[in-house]
Amino acid sequence: MNRFPSAWLALREPMDIASHNQDVLGACAHAFSTQDALSICDLGAGTGISIRAFAPFLPKRQYWTLVDHDAENLDTAKDILAAWGNSAQAMDDGLALEYADKHIEVRFSQRDLVADTAPWPAGTELVTASALFDLTSEDWIGRLVKKLTGDGLSILAALSFDGRIHLNPNDIRNERIFSAFCAHQQTDKGFGTASGPGAAAALEAHLKKAGYAVTSGDSPWEMGFASQQLMHETLKGIATAAAETGAVTQNDAENWLDDQIRGAESLIVGHRDIFAKPQA
Ligand SMILES: C[S@@+](CC[C@H](N)C(=O)[O-])C[C@H]1O[C@@H](n2cnc3c(N)ncnc32)[C@H](O)[C@@H]1O
Repeated sequence: MNRFPSAWLALREPMDIASHNQDVLGACAHAFSTQDALSICDLGAGTGISIRAFAPFLPKRQYWTLVDHDAENLDTAKDILAAWGNSAQAMDDGLALEYADKHIEVRFSQRDLVADTAPWPAGTELVTASALFDLTSEDWIGRLVKKLTGDGLSILAALSFDGRIHLNPNDIRNERIFSAFCAHQQTDKGFGTASGPGAAAALEAHLKKAGYAVTSGDSPWEMGFASQQLMHETLKGIATAAAETGAVTQNDAENWLDDQIRGAESLIVGHRDIFAKPQA
């Protein structure tokens, strides 16, 4: 199992939330604006960022199911969400939170999305996912869209990496490092050959083919001195992944990284957000 440690998810959370595409979130908010209650299932939930990011613009009463195969992340999600709510009460199988004017019930489901493409409970109306689709294969995305279509569900998919990386100041070695990193993004993360930088385009194409009304937009991470720790960790991740492909040597990746940690002023990593609903 590829692990995504909660410390890394916590470091990226403020940038994730700041980067979301407001037109995409607005389309999602609008789609459910006449409802008083909504049932939502979050895939690859990690520590529960989707609740903290999306609950504020969704209906007053929300019933969430967080799905992840990593029990440790789900346990951390429970603790972080309990502290995030204005008040929190344990339920038999989850948590009941009050947050601003929202009543939010959360259930936790440890499931493997490879084995179960559609783990949402009956009655779910919206499926969400954040930073998940680039790990999955195009085949899995196609199967997911079929299940969404069959159940008439909407989807909000945030922060799929789109292959664009801009590092300032430019360095002649960047192109080779970034191309190795993008190749690494397409290695198997458990779902078969990962769609990596092609994830958002694949998801959008499958949803449009299935007749969905799609709103999509850019949601880049724009890192600089104010987010230096995240920028440095991202650069380390890029260097490590690039070396793992064998397309650049460990030594070259390390030298490149040392120079960037000393000299990088800004780093932009491109993402796409997508909201799609079945056409009326
Ligand atoms: C990049 S993290 C994103 C976490 C969270 N959505 C966020 O944005 O902070 C990907 C998440 O997907 C989960 N994941 C990866 N493969 C999975 C699988 N086969 N089944 C269920 N969850 C999976 C990981 O455990 C991790 O929590």
